[in-house]
Amino acid sequence: MNEYVIHGGRPLHGEITVSGAKNAAVAIIPAALLVDGVCRIENVPEISDVTLFFSILEELGARVRVLNRHAVEIDSRNITSTTPPYELACRIRASYYLLGALLGRFGKATVSLPGGCNFGGVRPIDQHVKGFRAMGAEVIEGGYIEATAIDGHLHGASIYMDMVSVGATMNVMMAAVLAEGTTTIDNAAKEPHIVDLANFLNSMGADIKGAGTDTIKIRGVEKLTGGTYSIIPDQIEAGTYMAAVAAAGGEVVLHNIIPKHMDCISSKLEEMGVEIEEGDDSLVVRRTGELTRTNVKTLPYPGFPTDMQPQITTALALAHGTSIVTEGVWDNRFKYVAELKRMGAHIQVDGKVAVIEGVDRFEGTIIKACDLRAGAALVIAGLAAHGTTHLGKIEYIERGYEDLVGKLRGVGADIRLVDTPEDPRPELKII
Ligand code: EPU
Repeated sequence: MNEYVIHGGRPLHGEITVSGAKNAAVAIIPAALLVDGVCRIENVPEISDVTLFFSILEELGARVRVLNRHAVEIDSRNITSTTPPYELACRIRASYYLLGALLGRFGKATVSLPGGCNFGGVRPIDQHVKGFRAMGAEVIEGGYIEATAIDGHLHGASIYMDMVSVGATMNVMMAAVLAEGTTTIDNAAKEPHIVDLANFLNSMGADIKGAGTDTIKIRGVEKLTGGTYSIIPDQIEAGTYMAAVAAAGGEVVLHNIIPKHMDCISSKLEEMGVEIEEGDDSLVVRRTGELTRTNVKTLPYPGFPTDMQPQITTALALAHGTSIVTEGVWDNRFKYVAELKRMGAHIQVDGKVAVIEGVDRFEGTIIKACDLRAGAALVIAGLAAHGTTHLGKIEYIERGYEDLVGKLRGVGADIRLVDTPEDPRPELKII
């Protein structure tokens, strides 16, 4: 059992290099199964979700050669199974991408998905299934999702997504690259990782146009052949460190950034009084004065990202005045607020809306993470708090943040990873 011990109240000063994007990596790595050749993938984040995917691919018969901390070579020429092992696949939400990749290449896939999730109740995949069915697959949903192309391979189709879904857009894109004919996805998601997946697949020989717009057209090709690709920087990791500077104060230079991807986050932080200077592939984030209130509503890209909602809520809980944060993507993503309140935050949650009365300071206490971004938000709270915070259930955080402790220590934070024999924290209650 590990926890983070944070002695808060120190402004952050220094430089942080942002890693490759988690939500691009967890799509691109399974997408390597579509390639009848060898692909070298660079700027891969060193996080547990990625390591888990490497194990899954190896179990399916791929050869995975880790070249260094951030580069891997995946050879999917000799895949022997289209059924990822249950005990690995059900540990990672993004294992749904194995459906699109395996179905697209081999015409069949049997994948067990995780059950309910910590912030969305059951996370539906009806739009993924609708897409596969439109392309000619039979999909049986039970403990496992079993998808089979009725005549051996998929056909191009026109698919209108009933809601903007990152996962469904990427999954249908994967299924369509080797299908016969052209697939059109309307009302597609536009996140930077959608464009990154399309760029990866195109660099391996696919023909995808329009990624990053509402309509994506995928003309099926016979084969993907391999190549080299570098994953984009992580917009949410960068945004998390920006929110940390907002809450704790100081000045940090973030390297390995695509500034355009940060606009939706930067503009909100600027409204709060944080100074941001853009370089070509870097950002300077500075907070010296008081934070001011603002309202935030999370939306699909280019709106404010839901994966930054807990972090900005935490910073707003230290801002002067009353702020309103509305969660526009997930049903139940304010669970962590109970822990922030134990640190002194004044926040009332009613369904998808949080009303936040800014306070002058948080007090350190014993808390625990309930999911990845909630965990990151509680780290930020600990950095800004007076006294010592003990944050448990940090395995959620390690799923998606590379070397969080090292990066924060590098900018002067007093945060340590400590081995604790027993976790004294009771189960979190939603209040
Ligand atoms: N939805 C449906 N049906 C579907 C798919 C989605 O109703 O078939 C609904 C969901 O319930 C949700 C909304 O549509 O209300 C958006 O869900 P989306 O499919 O976009 O989410 P996702 O693909 O499952 C990815 C990220 C999440 C991020 C969301 C939204 C990955 C592995 N996960 O999830 O990231 O919150 O997009 O941007 O890429 C995180 O990184 O912490 C994280 C949770």
